[in-house]
Amino acid sequence: MERVAIYVLLLFSLHIQKIYTAKIGIISDQQFLTEKNTLVSSARTFELGFFKPGSSGNGYLLGIWYKKISVKTVVRVAKRDRPLTVASSGVLKIVHPGSLVLMSNNSIMWSSNTTSSGNATAKLDDSGNLVVIDGHNKSILWQSFDYPTDTFLPGMKFGRDNLTGREWHLSSPKSSEDLAPGKYIVSVDTNGYPQIIIKDTNDSLRFRAGPWNGVGLSGALAFDQKNTLRYNMVISCWQRKFVLNINIICRT
Ligand SMILES: *[C@@H]1O[C@H](CO)[C@@H](O)[C@H](O)[C@H]1NC(C)=O
Ligand SMILES: *[C@@H]1O[C@H](CO)[C@@H](O)[C@H](O)[C@H]1NC(C)=O
Ligand SMILES: *[C@@H]1O[C@H](CO)[C@@H](O)[C@H](O)[C@H]1NC(C)=O
Ligand SMILES: *[C@@H]1O[C@H](CO)[C@@H](O)[C@H](O)[C@H]1NC(C)=O
Ligand SMILES: *[C@@H]1O[C@H](CO)[C@@H](O)[C@H](O)[C@H]1NC(C)=O
Ligand SMILES: *[C@@H]1O[C@H](CO)[C@@H](O)[C@H](O)[C@H]1NC(C)=O
Repeated sequence: MERVAIYVLLLFSLHIQKIYTAKIGIISDQQFLTEKNTLVSSARTFELGFFKPGSSGNGYLLGIWYKKISVKTVVRVAKRDRPLTVASSGVLKIVHPGSLVLMSNNSIMWSSNTTSSGNATAKLDDSGNLVVIDGHNKSILWQSFDYPTDTFLPGMKFGRDNLTGREWHLSSPKSSEDLAPGKYIVSVDTNGYPQIIIKDTNDSLRFRAGPWNGVGLSGALAFDQKNTLRYNMVISCWQRKFVLNINIICRT
């Protein structure tokens, strides 16, 4: 009896495996992402799909995680404050006139609001960047790296464009089960010499790394160049544009 139960369970889990193993390399107006498949980057470094955070998370989210790390390590989530109650209701696809949209039960939950002159497509780069590409001139219409959640990946921008007021920052999740924006935001303060700061939701300062002095952040040991992680800060001042770009790479 027990053996039969185990056998049935095994068959059932094989079935589940099968449901989730379909991989796609591109999203278009013909090929959609649903709970039954995932979008995988060309060297299989990153994967995009629907997942349930934690063990008792309150719904399904669309996220990007490392494909080769067996413990699911999510680096980005979309609509983190509005999980889907039923995974099968979610669809990510391209719609006219070239927008990437997340639909639930046929209503649009999120749209990139982009316009393409040809058939737009979306693909996941091996850097972890989800990009919407114009079908005609191949330019990037939208990219997830411009909208980080709680994880900084090499190649992302972090800081502020003082011309447009556009800001790239990270915000903590509420918990491992509820990934909605939590209490802390890490950003770059551009009043004076740039410095990395952490504020809480009350706008009170919790941490500051000390101003950038041309070599490092004067008060931050975590950013010490002798550390395992190396970063490089680029401050661009072009036509009054102010962009702070930190690249973090691993010393080997
Ligand atoms: C979508 O439909 C399902 C089943 O009808 C329902 O349980 C779910 O709450 C709906 N989701 C949303 C976001 O409306
Ligand atoms: C797209 O447009 C809608 C309607 O104007 C807006 O509510 C939404 O925030 C926009 N999406 C993005 C990603 O800007
Ligand atoms: C490509 O086409 C899009 C949409 O028509 C347009 O917004 C964009 O400026 C074009 N890019 C280039 C490099 O021509
Ligand atoms: C878009 O894709 C459809 C189907 O693949 C094709 O018939 C059509 O010619 C394409 N349109 C453009 C503008 O490339
Ligand atoms: C950037 O903008 C902030 C706020 O508007 C201003 O206080 C600061 O001086 C500006 N920094 C630079 C380098 O222009
Ligand atoms: C700051 O936020 C916490 C909750 O996050 C709240 O308990 C506290 O009263 C707030 N303080 C102020 C000054 O608003």
